[in-house]
Amino acid sequence: MDTLEKTDTFVCATYARQGKAFVSGSGMYLTDEDGQVFTDFLAGIAVCSLGHCHPEVTAAIQDQAGRLVHVSNLFYTRPQADLAQALAKNSFADRVFFANSGAEANEAAIKLARRYFQRQGNTDRSRIITMTGSFHGRTLATLTATGQDKVKEGFYPLVPGFSHVPFNDLTALEQALDDTVCAVMMEPVQGEGGVIPAEPEYLAQVRQLCDQTGTLLIFDEIQTGMGRCGTLFAHQGYDVTPDIMTLAKALGNGVPIGAMLATETAAKGFEPGSHGSTFGGTPLAAAAGLKTLELISDPGFLARVREKETYFKAQLETLQQRHSRITDIRGKGLLLGMEVGEGAADVATGCFKKGFIVNAIQDKVLRFAPPLIVQTADIDRLVSVLDSLL
Ligand SMILES: Cc1ncc(COP(=O)(O)O)c(C=O)c1O
Repeated sequence: MDTLEKTDTFVCATYARQGKAFVSGSGMYLTDEDGQVFTDFLAGIAVCSLGHCHPEVTAAIQDQAGRLVHVSNLFYTRPQADLAQALAKNSFADRVFFANSGAEANEAAIKLARRYFQRQGNTDRSRIITMTGSFHGRTLATLTATGQDKVKEGFYPLVPGFSHVPFNDLTALEQALDDTVCAVMMEPVQGEGGVIPAEPEYLAQVRQLCDQTGTLLIFDEIQTGMGRCGTLFAHQGYDVTPDIMTLAKALGNGVPIGAMLATETAAKGFEPGSHGSTFGGTPLAAAAGLKTLELISDPGFLARVREKETYFKAQLETLQQRHSRITDIRGKGLLLGMEVGEGAADVATGCFKKGFIVNAIQDKVLRFAPPLIVQTADIDRLVSVLDSLL
């Protein structure tokens, strides 16, 4: 059996995969079993932001793998302490809870928000408001939080205590916020929802509303964080600060790790025994996270991401002038979306056949989330392929 057949026989059929198996990666490029090289404009869905097998991250992983991989959170380990300190130093947060994925980081945020009020004896404040079109994960609570029906099909009954309001609609949020709400949870730029940025004024007003009502504000920066949007965290580009933030994806440049960051005040919702994870923040994952954070948080690196955003957007806008089916180009940093209408998946498949990995969302939007090390020459080559396909 070849890899495709074996996978389709023995792995649960939860994914619609492209028909190639990859064996190695380096920077912007992936190589398949037949030796064909692909240019990657998806980075494992916004994960390998420093490029595949970045030498310094690989060295950090190799070094840590030879010393200590796991001991559990019954004990202290230096890489976890160092990563928590580095995350706090680079953000609004004072404390970090480590998990293994985005969904788990969001579970931690949801649990913290509820427990924050319940510890104060306020058991009525447990409802969480999220946005239509949002994506927060596939566990039962996070798929309930997600504002898309398709991820919920077949999984009823869902977790009680979640409501959704339209994104970028302040009046709807105002009407939904009452004294049963403990938190508002949202992505600064909706990723899976079609690469839709929050309006700057809206985000600032959401913060104000949360302040006025004593509601916790949770930013899900699992996709937008770690330099993806041109600042270390997307909310820094908006100048709006949450009480709680979740990270995963690019935090380990491919090594699974999730994190929930909180202010000292919000973090009081947790105490020993209230939440936990066997693997959360293992020495191995934390070592990868520490090196990744060190490299991405460099101001020069982030400035280059913003330069490449300007270049990439300009090229896509030129393409838009040539093709009427492109109706919108949007996004922040190197999380960009191009609305091409029905058939976006065919365009993505066409790119794949020509050796470029891009992703189609809802068969309408092409999403570009390349490694942040992408060069202008890579962008030029992709744009020329898109030109021929469109
Ligand atoms: C904004 C957002 N939140 C949460 C998740 C879930 O992360 P994971 O797949 O690591 O559980 C994703 C994944 O795409 C995401 O984009």
